[in-house]
Amino acid sequence: MSDLRTDLEALRATARDRLSAADSAEAVEALRHDLLGRSGQLTGLLRQLGSVAPADRPPLGQLANEVRREVEAAVDARLADLRGSDLDARLAAETIDMSAPGRPVPIGHLHPVLTTMRDLREIFHAYGFEVFEGPEVETEEYNFELLNIPPDHPARDLWDTLYVAEPGSVESGDPRPAADGTILRTHTSPAQVRAMQALEAPIRVLTPGRCFRYEAVDASHGFEFFQVEGLVVDRDTSLADLKGLLEEVARALYGREVPTRFRPGYYPFTEPSVAFDIGCLVCGGAGCAACKRSGWMTILGAGMVHPDVLRAGGFDPDEYQGYAFGMGPDRMTMLRHAIGDIRLFFSADLRFATQFAEGR
Ligand code: PHE
Repeated sequence: MSDLRTDLEALRATARDRLSAADSAEAVEALRHDLLGRSGQLTGLLRQLGSVAPADRPPLGQLANEVRREVEAAVDARLADLRGSDLDARLAAETIDMSAPGRPVPIGHLHPVLTTMRDLREIFHAYGFEVFEGPEVETEEYNFELLNIPPDHPARDLWDTLYVAEPGSVESGDPRPAADGTILRTHTSPAQVRAMQALEAPIRVLTPGRCFRYEAVDASHGFEFFQVEGLVVDRDTSLADLKGLLEEVARALYGREVPTRFRPGYYPFTEPSVAFDIGCLVCGGAGCAACKRSGWMTILGAGMVHPDVLRAGGFDPDEYQGYAFGMGPDRMTMLRHAIGDIRLFFSADLRFATQFAEGR
């Protein structure tokens, strides 16, 4: 028994000396293997434990465990030591060039349609317009009825939309439109009535926002798109004011050379109604897919606010008149940058989007 005890003590003592002599991580690892490994010295000594007298086994076993823990800790401590001095050596050798340029961090930029909407906001701001937001999730009442479009009106076909389902009806396998007529707005015009109800005359507001329609998607139609609505209500407004304003805005956006034209139009909520076109900049007026081969692109619809709509907004049409216009910033952006396909805007393709990095 005393032999085994002496051997264990000897191992403990020599392990310490041999570790402090090991001067690299590899040497320490080799030593760990030699001392604690499966065929190492300590394991060899432990094997002898079986042949000592049963009464001597517990104290010797305890000592062996103690030695193992101690040697393990000493190995780890020595490794940490050596690593520390490696780091010191590296820090001493390295130099850092504080004047080197940093790595650029890509932070993205505005989408070109958003840039157009901000420009519009700025241009109209100069004419006294402020922003009035309306909800994207609307009711049929505001999107249609209050705008003079009753349920059986043929104009509803042009503005077919996406209906919010009656709660539970989708899960039950029988999807139905919500009974309260909740829909995704097909245009920003419902904000006309909301603005009139919320504000006092004179009103000059701009409503930018996302709209949705049940559309066959092609180069110039998306089922999701943007509009910027304008509304003026005052005691003395006229179609001449509207024409003058829109021509000024078109010049501010596209420059003096771009031809413009008004055409008679039809909207149930304006009377008279007009469409405002701009010469197609994609093809220079020759005709292309983006302008449906006409050489012109309609960028907005407009007109004098219908008396019924003024009434719905709480204004007396004998005292007040107004004009309204709905612009399509997607198409306006296509014209600005000669983009031939509206689907690119929602394509999430960085090769497309990064071409407009100069946008603010
Ligand atoms: N809301 C119409 C549309 O989506 C545009 C419009 C707005 C027309 C305001 C007249 C007045 O086409």
